Amino acid sequence: MIRSLKQFLAFSAIVALGIASKMVEPGANRQKKLLSLFNIVQFDNDQCTGTGGTLGTCFTSAECMNRQGIARGSCAAGFGTCCAFQISTCGGVVTQNNTLIQNENFPTGTTTNRVCSFSISNVAGATNICQIRLDFINTALEQPNGMGLCENDMLTVTTTPATVTYPILCGDLSGQHMYIDVVRGSVGAVANVDVQTQTATGARLFNIRTSYIDCNSLSRPPQGCRQYFEGPSARIQSYNFGGLHLQNQQISYCFRQEMGRCSFTVRESTVTGAGDAFELIQGAGEMEMVITVCTISFIQFPIMPTLGQDNRCGKIFGLTAGDTIPSNVPSQRSTPFRILFQTIDMDQAMGKGFDLTVTQNPC
Ligand SMILES: *[C@@H]1O[C@H](CO)[C@@H](O)[C@H](O)[C@H]1NC(C)=O
Repeated sequence: MIRSLKQFLAFSAIVALGIASKMVEPGANRQKKLLSLFNIVQFDNDQCTGTGGTLGTCFTSAECMNRQGIARGSCAAGFGTCCAFQISTCGGVVTQNNTLIQNENFPTGTTTNRVCSFSISNVAGATNICQIRLDFINTALEQPNGMGLCENDMLTVTTTPATVTYPILCGDLSGQHMYIDVVRGSVGAVANVDVQTQTATGARLFNIRTSYIDCNSLSRPPQGCRQYFEGPSARIQSYNFGGLHLQNQQISYCFRQEMGRCSFTVRESTVTGAGDAFELIQGAGEMEMVITVCTISFIQFPIMPTLGQDNRCGKIFGLTAGDTIPSNVPSQRSTPFRILFQTIDMDQAMGKGFDLTVTQNPC
């Protein structure tokens, strides 16, 4: 009886202090008290979903404040604060998982002409990071020119050490993502995201979630994959689909092979409205068909064993050259489950790109 009363009193004290810390600026003494009390309750710094659906990490409210996070509701049965991170100042350094990098005043667009750089630093103490994932939650930059070239606005990714060249992006990227490969064991600033907004007119905006992928994570894509999808079916779109696709890209779309699935089939997605789901131009006059020698912009993956590697372009995505209606294209019965999209930097009018649906087939 006495014991439970004591526990009750301790609990009330925590609650009371918790409330107090929100209402008054805590003095050093009060903060110490708060810390020592909260140290009694231990919880993991797990991922949490804060108010408004923002992803955060569960910290004590003091830890969240120290890390300059934003409290977005509670976690750990009310003992923790779902702490979200966002940086909207150019030159900012990302150190926390799921940090949002945004233009200043987001969701209002920016009309400032400049290059806004963000550095992504490996989480202190964690050296087992293999990838960084960028989720373009809302990102609308200037459209490329008619040849798919990002002229004024561009989003550029670089890594330290530099290993591969990442595609330069512009246009509408909302809903898309990109993986950055990190050399295992590297610490400090491992990647840089530069957003250049140089057009004199029109508001541009970006809100990009940056997350760290542990080398042992089950959701870790293989190296070299710029996009990665789990589950028996996935929909892939070229960057800026709806506008023109971008030139000078080499993008691997990778799919986790699901249990009991041995191959995959690719087809044009059903696009709502008047849109076309596939348009990769291979020079004037060579449209309306699949051609097997596509060199400027093409989709490539190993199809039926007899045909081997095959490039596909044109205005119809189908199995056979000359097709005028779309058809399903099955992959070879082999791994990896991967599709390559390649465009070269050529002064050539670009098409809309692609919106394809990939379905894994039972063995
Ligand atoms: C970062 O958060 C993501 C969720 O967005 C999670 O899948 C991942 O495991 C977290 N990374 C680390 C290193 O904790």
